[in-house]
Amino acid sequence: MSLSKNKESKILKQFSRFAQSYGRYNVIQTEVAKLLVERIPTKFYPTIIDLGSGDGEVYKNLIKKHITFEKFVAWDSSEQMLALHPKGLIIDKYMADFNYQKSYENIENKKENTLLISSSALQWSEDLDFVFRELSQKASRAYFAIFTSNTFKTLHEIAQIDSPIYTEKELKEVIEKYYSTDFELKKYTLAFKTVREMFQYIKKSGVSGGEKRLSYKQSKKVMQTYPLDYLEFEVLFVEATSLA
Ligand SMILES: C[S@@+](CC[C@H](N)C(=O)[O-])C[C@H]1O[C@@H](n2cnc3c(N)ncnc32)[C@H](O)[C@@H]1O
Repeated sequence: MSLSKNKESKILKQFSRFAQSYGRYNVIQTEVAKLLVERIPTKFYPTIIDLGSGDGEVYKNLIKKHITFEKFVAWDSSEQMLALHPKGLIIDKYMADFNYQKSYENIENKKENTLLISSSALQWSEDLDFVFRELSQKASRAYFAIFTSNTFKTLHEIAQIDSPIYTEKELKEVIEKYYSTDFELKKYTLAFKTVREMFQYIKKSGVSGGEKRLSYKQSKKVMQTYPLDYLEFEVLFVEATSLA
């Protein structure tokens, strides 16, 4: 499965448009980033790269956990999200799209000294094989949290649309080509008072990203028939050591 260019630019526009309100709509991503950082041993790392850094949730958790580093690369394709990321002498903000080859050329080849973290971003890899091959060359140790296609599962079933993101199986198969891994799958739910509020959340959270827009008819059907008072999320947590 890959995302079309059109979809990809929609993702970027969506993040940029909602960059200011994103903080209020990222309940699940906040939890996910916290749990991901909890898994990282507290020690000194020469370089940390945070891929899809957004407004700095991973960075803030690293600081809280007293993890130290000499250089922190906040890598994101959205200028607006990067503008919200904490600044600092050792923070290098890098605006680039991880789907493009040229974006990797500016990243140093100091694999052994680099820890790679990516929370709630890699589900938008256009070509999973390409992205993980490139990433495995840049850091020997990596921690990923990636939303799977079971996110919004019931909603997709009712609307009769396919998830725009990868299945757990697709993710695991590709990641295992480039890393020795330890996986954990976690399910989350988020309750809402009304289906309308739920729709608002999907729109603003950035989780939907390149999600196929529902037609008016489909939205109406989902609003009338959605059987749950919560949204479903599924996240694959990965602790990885590069095989390259
Ligand atoms: C759901 S947010 C997660 C932000 C942060 N990691 C967190 O845990 O709160 C996803 C971030 O990935 C970025 N992103 C999405 N696609 C990207 C791409 N192709 N290249 C670089 N960044 C991307 C978005 O701009 C956004 O800031």
